[in-house]
Amino acid sequence: METIYTVGDIGLKLFKKGKVRETFFFDGNLLMVATDRISAFDVVFPTPIPYKGIVLNMLSEFWFKKTKKIVKNHFITTDIPKGLPEFLKNRSMVVKSARPIELECVVRGYLTGSAFKEYKKNNGMVWGYELEKGLEDGAKLKEPLFTPAIKKVDKDITISVEESRKIFGGVVEELQEYSLKLYEFANRYALKKGLVLADTKFEFGYDGKGIMQIDEAFTPDSSRYWLKEEYEKGNLESMDKQFFRNYLLGIEWDRSSPPEIPKEIAEKTKERYLKLYEMITGKNLQKEIKNKIN
Ligand SMILES: Nc1ncnc2c1ncn2[C@@H]1O[C@H](COP(=O)(O)OP(=O)(O)OP(=O)(O)O)[C@@H](O)[C@H]1O
Ligand SMILES: [Mg+2]
Repeated sequence: METIYTVGDIGLKLFKKGKVRETFFFDGNLLMVATDRISAFDVVFPTPIPYKGIVLNMLSEFWFKKTKKIVKNHFITTDIPKGLPEFLKNRSMVVKSARPIELECVVRGYLTGSAFKEYKKNNGMVWGYELEKGLEDGAKLKEPLFTPAIKKVDKDITISVEESRKIFGGVVEELQEYSLKLYEFANRYALKKGLVLADTKFEFGYDGKGIMQIDEAFTPDSSRYWLKEEYEKGNLESMDKQFFRNYLLGIEWDRSSPPEIPKEIAEKTKERYLKLYEMITGKNLQKEIKNKIN
């Protein structure tokens, strides 16, 4: 298994280079390649996290296959066509091309992170929702909340559903319905696997016929997962990127030049991503990719 920081020239035309993934035009569709880059607070760090891209890709595949009955999605295959370099295996997905709707569809089943900050600051009001008083960090919400956000110069700004309707129109209703259904399905599933899916983010796009889910699905980059056993004891033990964010919050660093990540932190982040994959799918990723005959 090779660790990949940048994809480089693979003989395909680049469609978009994101913070983590690089997408290429491929045969009328797109080829999304997940690198091992890690980003946090909207900057990319110079140290790759081994296996990270593979976890993102294979976990998205797992969820896209499970949720297509709720809403169609862009997934086509993770079989990499002959002729493309070997290192793309396991970290790439052929997807249908879409016109993205520039609304980050966030669903929160539990109150934490920026929503908890907002709750404390605004006396129980969270982007248009009035919540009950006295909730603690991590509290389960009576109903999952749809808290969409828009991208503003490398930073996501949460807006109320009402505001998002003004910008994107009636389609927001549909996006909200799909997002809530997807979240509820996945949280129910995660709970059975010993995890709490605290919140997650979806992206949707138009494919010419209608709406489909695009981007990634319930990955540790796009979602907050906690260990259920710890949650029940009152601890928010993150199995996702939050572990890395917490490390960053504890050190001094210049946001314009992100530092190398210490070996031990990179290792622990990797272990969490792999453990999450195993808990959700019941499979050991390292064994799985070794045994794959292609
Ligand atoms: N099927 C699709 N068709 C078109 N664009 C897509 C599709 N799926 C995902 N995308 C877009 O590809 C990008 C995925 O790359 P990545 O997640 O690395 O970017 P990012 O870190 O979110 O940064 P950026 O702010 O550049 O989007 C996103 O911009 C997403 O909207
Ligand atoms: Mg992204």
